[in-house]
Amino acid sequence: MSRIVLSEINKYYGSNHVLKDLNLVVEDGDFMTLLGPSGCGKTTTLRVIAGLEKPQSGNIYMDEREVVNAKERFYEDPAKRGLNLVFQSYALWPHMTVFDNVAFGLKVEKVPKAQIAQRVQNALERMRISELAQRYPSELSGGQQQRVAIARAIVSEPKVLLLDEPLSNLDAKLRVDMRSELKRLHRELGATIIYVTHDQVEALTMSTKIAIFFDGVLEQVNTPMEVYQNPASLRIADFIGNPRINFIPGKAQRAGDLLTVESVLGIHQFNADTFTNEMPGDGLFDCVVGVRPEQIEISRQETAAGIPANIYSAMPAGSETLLQLWVGDVQLLAKQIGLKNYAADQPVWMQINPESINIFHKETGRLIKRATSEAEE
Ligand SMILES: Nc1ncnc2c1ncn2[C@@H]1O[C@H](COP(=O)(O)OP(=O)(O)OP(=O)(O)O)[C@@H](O)[C@H]1O
Ligand SMILES: [Mg+2]
Repeated sequence: MSRIVLSEINKYYGSNHVLKDLNLVVEDGDFMTLLGPSGCGKTTTLRVIAGLEKPQSGNIYMDEREVVNAKERFYEDPAKRGLNLVFQSYALWPHMTVFDNVAFGLKVEKVPKAQIAQRVQNALERMRISELAQRYPSELSGGQQQRVAIARAIVSEPKVLLLDEPLSNLDAKLRVDMRSELKRLHRELGATIIYVTHDQVEALTMSTKIAIFFDGVLEQVNTPMEVYQNPASLRIADFIGNPRINFIPGKAQRAGDLLTVESVLGIHQFNADTFTNEMPGDGLFDCVVGVRPEQIEISRQETAAGIPANIYSAMPAGSETLLQLWVGDVQLLAKQIGLKNYAADQPVWMQINPESINIFHKETGRLIKRATSEAEE
């Protein structure tokens, strides 16, 4: 078991309030990704969990065992927390070969030699660096050093692994390979992983859960699918997904169990079973309609329920084509699979499934109408 609970954590650096009333539960076996823009507090959260920083208030539990109780000034020693860490800026021992760097912890634990050789080999293979075993850190590229650091952390098969942007120095292809290795490793070790990144694709592809931070506030914790389909706020919606979500201004009116929304997409009505807790009371208010680019279907012929639009520019990019469209005075981005040819100013008709769109309250920025799930198992 490796369950980690953070309760009401506050962390200040001087007068800078870096973590604000942070509550987070990492379940045993989770691959929890802490996601958010630079400076939002991801590394600080990881360091607080590891015991390298002391929060001014709050509690932390690991498997019901209290490891931090700020009120009583109790902070358990990092070494006793049984965690394994790879930092954003990793440090290898310069006077040791790659093999020895990775083997070090096992040697300290007095693991038999043959077993060390085999486990180090396995870790190096996973990170695609077995041919570098006899090199010294100074003879490696940044990305290679980074992979040695990960190999060193995983070789001990830790129950909890904390990783701070471990793939940041890798090129695009290697990053994809390493993502799938880490994902497999998570499954095979059954480990609890807390992973920090500001890369939303990394978060979406690897995690069982994503925790999204802005300015030291945890705004949403949920599965990648839920965070993508039902972002809790406008800024989460904007942060997650590439290409970016479209925001369309609208007027909303709630009357009891019915929400009516009017925008350039037309008039839509939604029932109370799609409302979130953030839905305001009866009345008129400004809203924002959120539509993902892939939710817009394009037809070259006029369709009965189609919304007329004009192609501003078409950007074929191999496996997909991005289309910039004008609908009334609103510009939208649509994504189509495959290579498609459109002329500038060509008229087209858009089809959007109202079930799949999100509605946000403009003033609060909160999600008020959920998308109904359309993802397949
Ligand atoms: N040791 C420190 N002393 C003072 N302020 C710090 C310290 N470490 C971090 N901060 C501040 O705390 C805030 C959060 O920093 P943190 O390193 O947690 O961000 P992050 O989300 O990991 O960002 P990045 O994606 O850039 O790594 C920032 O405003 C940062 O300047
Ligand atoms: Mg950081």
